Amino acid sequence: MKKLVFATGNAHKIAEVNRLLDGFYEVVPMAEVGITEDIPETADTLEGNALLKARYVYAHTGMDCFSEDTGLEVEALGGRPGVHSARYAGADKDAAANMRKLLQELEGQLNRRARFRTVIALILDGKEYLFEGIAPGHIATAPSGKKGFGYDPIFVPEGHERTFAEMTADEKNAISHRGKAVAQLVEFLQKQASGK
Ligand code: IMP
Repeated sequence: MKKLVFATGNAHKIAEVNRLLDGFYEVVPMAEVGITEDIPETADTLEGNALLKARYVYAHTGMDCFSEDTGLEVEALGGRPGVHSARYAGADKDAAANMRKLLQELEGQLNRRARFRTVIALILDGKEYLFEGIAPGHIATAPSGKKGFGYDPIFVPEGHERTFAEMTADEKNAISHRGKAVAQLVEFLQKQASGK
């Protein structure tokens, strides 16, 4: 099977994407090809950071690779935390503190519309491609659920009453930002493989 390096150190994400590319590509965590350092994410857009990470892995390995960058964009906050989602409440990427800060900022706010947006940057045979996935929804008034990670306990996807953290991995993947972006990646890779 062809190898595709996933430029992330996040085990949750590797597991999520592996399920979606299962049997088609062998998704290799970047640590397995010798990249153990945190790749600096210094761009001010999701697209910029995704490209930065993919280019880093490609420069160091020459292997086909992809990376993703995700942000939670809250309408009433002008799209914040967005590209700063991981470190919203501080440098230590504390998910509970991030959620507390966001809930505080939205206290009394009736417009709780938000969306997760994922951008995937793929480098295949030295060429760059971008894919996007969006999951619309709203921010709950309090956390519920224990599954998933990050902001999952306070995000209720559109058309549902439960948060992402109350859904199984398969339920979340079917409607999530990352699921949609990976679906586009998979469709593209399938077309490439069949020469269309
Ligand atoms: P990253 O830059 O893709 O690692 O993600 C930025 C921030 O968004 C981190 O705080 C993650 O915890 C959060 N995040 C990314 N994907 C998800 C998700 O699927 N659910 C909840 N939070 C997420």
